[in-house]
Amino acid sequence: MRLPEFWLLMILAGVFAGAMEIAHAYDRPPPRQDFAVSVAAYADPTTPQQVHVSLAGENKMRISWITDKHTPPIVNYGTSSGKYEHSATGVISSYEYVTYISGEIHDVVIGPLNPNTVYYYSFATGSSSTPEYSFKTPPAQFPIKFAVSGDLGQTGWTKSTLEHISQSNYDVFLLPGDLAYADRIQPLWDSFGRLVEPLASQRPWMVTQGNHEVEKIPAIHHTPFTAYNARWHMPFEESGSTSNLYYSFEVSGVHVVMLGSYADFGYGSDQIRWLESDLKKVDRRKTPWLVVIVHAPWYNSNYAHQGEKESVDMRVMMEGLLYKARVDLVFAGHVHAYERFNRVYNQETDNCGPMYITIGDGGNREGLASKYKEPQPTISVFREASFGHGELEIVNGSYAKWSWHRNDDDESFESDSVWLKSFASDTTCKANKK
Ligand SMILES: [Fe+2]
Repeated sequence: MRLPEFWLLMILAGVFAGAMEIAHAYDRPPPRQDFAVSVAAYADPTTPQQVHVSLAGENKMRISWITDKHTPPIVNYGTSSGKYEHSATGVISSYEYVTYISGEIHDVVIGPLNPNTVYYYSFATGSSSTPEYSFKTPPAQFPIKFAVSGDLGQTGWTKSTLEHISQSNYDVFLLPGDLAYADRIQPLWDSFGRLVEPLASQRPWMVTQGNHEVEKIPAIHHTPFTAYNARWHMPFEESGSTSNLYYSFEVSGVHVVMLGSYADFGYGSDQIRWLESDLKKVDRRKTPWLVVIVHAPWYNSNYAHQGEKESVDMRVMMEGLLYKARVDLVFAGHVHAYERFNRVYNQETDNCGPMYITIGDGGNREGLASKYKEPQPTISVFREASFGHGELEIVNGSYAKWSWHRNDDDESFESDSVWLKSFASDTTCKANKK
């Protein structure tokens, strides 16, 4: 090779390496502030607001909404727009928090409902201008798609994440804790409810609690989770749990366990006993997939939230139960970033352990957790501090695709994906089929 050709090649190699580096290093836009939804639409105090739906036992849905003035807890619903063949009545509650008094929180369970069907619904407010809403029930069987994103908050980034999720054609949303980031400022729970309503009134939203839901104030407000429990009633009664902080549900061949990082998880605790009995009930012929959601991650190579007891002690208390039950996937939030691990048990790669994913990347005002431990542990496969959301597409009883979608400026960009095989279809790590 002649000398000029050699240097030309070296320059091209340098440009190519630089381009690779640029492509890998994502230049993040600055943090965004809280995003306020206009309240002008709610000038009439009987106007329903903060409408959201959640699964509430087999073929049933819980509908929750808030009004500033009394309206009856009655939902009218049917499968044609404007024609409501059915009606259901529920209950009203409210709560006080220091000087704040909530609006009337309406809680109505409707059903039985047909799978994979759009239902139109409205509320008996006494006004002819009461809006109509609609939701789609999940399919009876596979395929089903979950959207997953934790630590949402209510910033411009949250709005971007929600827009991407709404475009994903998902069936059920899973939120691993830290919803509104109200942090004791109760009207922020209301603004969060208004922000998520366009999505949460159309598909079931299943949530568990994070540390931002605790909201105790020493000597002033002793009861934890006051707003969370009042506003986000999950189907704990239906799953034999005594607490809204941990429960399970089954949908389309998937058994989902929601754990409570901030409920007692010690020896002999209600949560441990409930978890043991719930996992024993799982029948992998009926629900081949077993998924667990928790707020504080048990595996985490980010510097954020290292060594917290909700991560360290809870893992020690519960990991063996999940391993024995052949849990397929564990999602966590808390760390404001994305990280995917191998199948892990007892801090080592183990083909019979769950795959762990941290997805606390919804977009809250605290910003990203961008400092990682080096070198990257061998159990950690992919990690990146960007906002975004995940999609779990369960194709059938054996295979599922997990993908992570970064909020690339205002575009959604699939940055990580992996195919999983369920333990129900695995011959080497047999799951209990009863
Ligand atoms: Fe958190």
